[in-house]
Amino acid sequence: MASEPSAKASAPTVPIAMMGGYSLSAPVLHPASDPDDLQEEVAQGLALFEGNCASCHGSAGRGDGGASASLLPKPANLTAARFSDERLSSVLWNGVVGSSMPPWRQLPTEDLRALVAYVQSLHPPIAAASTQEVKSLDERKSLFEANCSSCHGETGAGNGPVAGVLAPSPTNFQLKKSTQERAWEVLENGVPGTAMAPWRNQLSADQRRSLIEFVRSLYGPSQENSGQ
Ligand code: HEC
Ligand code: HEC
Repeated sequence: MASEPSAKASAPTVPIAMMGGYSLSAPVLHPASDPDDLQEEVAQGLALFEGNCASCHGSAGRGDGGASASLLPKPANLTAARFSDERLSSVLWNGVVGSSMPPWRQLPTEDLRALVAYVQSLHPPIAAASTQEVKSLDERKSLFEANCSSCHGETGAGNGPVAGVLAPSPTNFQLKKSTQERAWEVLENGVPGTAMAPWRNQLSADQRRSLIEFVRSLYGPSQENSGQ
């Protein structure tokens, strides 16, 4: 699978996502399962990332690249969430409509896979289970249904009744697991430039903590576990 990295690929001049195109045919790219191959993919992905992504996402992927000051919504902090391979593949293929994140499907498949491998390598370690007291599952679920499911969908798949008109779309929590810190910050301040509003005046800290536990518990992509 290893070949010459084509780190010089340039960004498209007309981002396809800006024109409203959305392709359902995004291939799902899984990084190599062999550790040596994976290491090579991550190294290739790093070079591609430096060349194509760091200007917005920052060289450590924290969303603080030089261009980020002038962008709304802000480039994602890629260390603040765990993504499924499926989600990363689809984001690279389609970009994020309603943001400056362009599609990258003009890159060779191997480069896209290397980028998936690199972004996955930025994963935060899985946090130890929180010991704090949280509301019962039923309470958490009804809080979510009352406040969040119109956009994020009843099962958190990002497909609530009003989701269709929003760009960027509401997060699919089955494919993206935000860190507790990131989710807390989002519920405090919202995500500027998107439909995600702050909730600090509508919900108590306790309710927000419960919702964070709830949305993080929804993560579980169907297409994972294919690596042996
Ligand atoms: C012109 C700036 C720009 C460039 C270049 C760029 N991005 Fe982004 N990216 C963004 C913005 C803005 C968002 C946040 C969109 C949002 O808030 O939904 C984003 C979001 C993302 C996300 C998160 C999607 C999600 O589901 O939350 C990933 C992953 C990502 N970018 C990867 C990349 C990779 C890999 C590259 C290089 C191949 C890249 N980006 C290049 C601006 C950029
Ligand atoms: C009006 C629609 C809407 C409602 C209601 C809404 N959200 Fe969101 N939410 C969004 C959108 C759109 C995004 C994606 C922002 C982006 O692309 O950066 C988002 C993003 C998020 C994220 C950020 C994920 C990440 O790591 O970037 C969290 C966490 C979240 N929402 C939780 C909630 C919770 C909990 C509620 C209920 C209290 C809620 N949302 C209600 C639209 C909504």
